Amino acid sequence: MKYYFICNWKMYPSSFGRARSLLADYNKLFVPTKKENWINKKIIICPPSPFFQLFDEKRIHTIKLGSQNVFWKSTGNYTGQISARMAKDFGVEYAIIGHSELRTNGDTDILVNLKVKEALKYYITPIICVGYKDYLRETQNVLNSFSSEEVNKMILAYEPIEAIGSNNPENPERVERAIRQIKKIIYQRFRKKFFVKMFGLGGNKNNIPRPAILYGGSVNAQNYKKFLSIPDLSGFVIGRESLNPVNVKEIALGFNMGEKESNKRF
Ligand code: PGA
Repeated sequence: MKYYFICNWKMYPSSFGRARSLLADYNKLFVPTKKENWINKKIIICPPSPFFQLFDEKRIHTIKLGSQNVFWKSTGNYTGQISARMAKDFGVEYAIIGHSELRTNGDTDILVNLKVKEALKYYITPIICVGYKDYLRETQNVLNSFSSEEVNKMILAYEPIEAIGSNNPENPERVERAIRQIKKIIYQRFRKKFFVKMFGLGGNKNNIPRPAILYGGSVNAQNYKKFLSIPDLSGFVIGRESLNPVNVKEIALGFNMGEKESNKRF
């Protein structure tokens, strides 16, 4: 099982020089060693797009590049937008899609679906945030629009809007319940219907995808341990705290509960 730590730098730091030195700190801290091999943990930094270029120049292989958004078209007269195709060209492998801070600025379920489609087209893994208004409806929207194979190429992030940028993380029991609910609707959406099974249409096997499910919202080095006993949690989206790579490392190293629960994701 893999664990993901999505470092959402948001609109920080304030200059190219500071971004360069922040990345240099990450590069120093995440060098694989015998003790810290990072093999099952992915550190994905999502900087503002003007800083993508820095990652092209110097980045150790344990750090992956993500985008905070992509536009829903590949090219055209769209002032101020960044296409998945351009992002890919800079080495972007992941893209946060449907973050509440973008839904507040107009990203609807329809746009989220189009952006996810566009990301998949360029082999970028979409990290789809749910929790802006109704995480169940938002999850359902994505599940209803994509196939099981496509959902397997996604990461879902439960991010209740009240917890983002607030210093008030969601209560761990609620996160656990939300993850259970998300798994349940994935199951209901993709299990084979009884009559399909009965007549052997499309094979006999259920085809249930197993996307990683993360939590995001005011996670920091002081509070992350509260979430570690949640059985199916596969990592965190870390916003402001990701400007402190020492703390990101502490969180990622501390995330070892998976070994006991790792095979029970579904
Ligand atoms: P935060 O941001 O950790 O600063 O609350 C979370 C996010 O951007 O998803």
